[in-house]
Amino acid sequence: MDRILAATPDADDLQTELSLRPKLLREYIGQQKVKANLEISLTAARKRNEPLDHVLLFGPPGLGKTTLANIISNEMNASLRSTSGPALEKPGDLVAIVTNLEAGDVLFIDEIHRLPPIVEEVLYSAMEDFHVDVVIGQGPAARTLKVELPRFTLVGATTRAGLLTAPLRARFGIVHRLDFYDVEALTIIVRRSSEILGIPTERDASSEIARRARGTPRIANRLLRRVRDYAEVRHEGRVNADIAREALEMLEVDEYGLDEIDRKLLTTIIERFGGGPVGVNAIASSIGEDRGTIEDLYEPYLTQIGFLQRTPRGRVASREAYVHLGYPAAHARTQKDLF
Ligand code: ADE
Repeated sequence: MDRILAATPDADDLQTELSLRPKLLREYIGQQKVKANLEISLTAARKRNEPLDHVLLFGPPGLGKTTLANIISNEMNASLRSTSGPALEKPGDLVAIVTNLEAGDVLFIDEIHRLPPIVEEVLYSAMEDFHVDVVIGQGPAARTLKVELPRFTLVGATTRAGLLTAPLRARFGIVHRLDFYDVEALTIIVRRSSEILGIPTERDASSEIARRARGTPRIANRLLRRVRDYAEVRHEGRVNADIAREALEMLEVDEYGLDEIDRKLLTTIIERFGGGPVGVNAIASSIGEDRGTIEDLYEPYLTQIGFLQRTPRGRVASREAYVHLGYPAAHARTQKDLF
């Protein structure tokens, strides 16, 4: 079953995101620090009539990394070429793309931490000196041909900045981390999306949806679509706060935006591991999810809302998590237990 609160996109998300995606930086809501810094970088580059420095964007999925890559190309009046780390299997795949770029173009590589090492190697010279070395022929007759590239801007996106190699990371002049959105920003995003999609949504319904969207615009927009379905089938289509709440309860999305899997993760720590500390591998095998998924998709938000703590000795369920899940707060670990 598709997880309603998954931050990774499904086919419908990708479809609606095309129509919802802001085109210019001033239409982009939230992420104030990133916005302010990018505004300066973009303005300076435009003034000098130079391409923007290479940009690395990192942070949890669904927060707008692809959207920002689009905005950067629009703001620079440049074309955008999009690909991803896993799609570039051989050096030739990357060479084919970069040799077809025009001066100033933006190349977006999503999941850049998943580039194969032999492809990453080619990217180094492409980013640094705007050339690639192409090997022609085989064996003793093989020759290396240096191909000059137009000056382009690489925008790399990753959910795991920690997995980037140092040489790759060092080649980005501009590095920004995206954070979870606060409820106010998400409320504005839901209102904007309702207008674009023509969904009659009352003000407090937008904030109800925003509150349960795990700080993630992609999830907010998805919940909005599910609430619209509910409102159309059970009511006359108009979305108010009560209808939003009913719909979200039916989807088993609770008031913190936790779903079954989040609750299972926390109850497992509490019931099977005495509240922690417990290693992520033990949690993973207990709940039958892989470790990377837990680290990328579940933990960042649970940590952000203070339900999960990461200590040197492992993960710990907080007092707030005990209370939210209906366990006696007195059973929770205290700081004294942990250090
Ligand atoms: N849709 C998704 N993310 C958005 C953002 N940050 N601003 C405006 N609309 C969005």
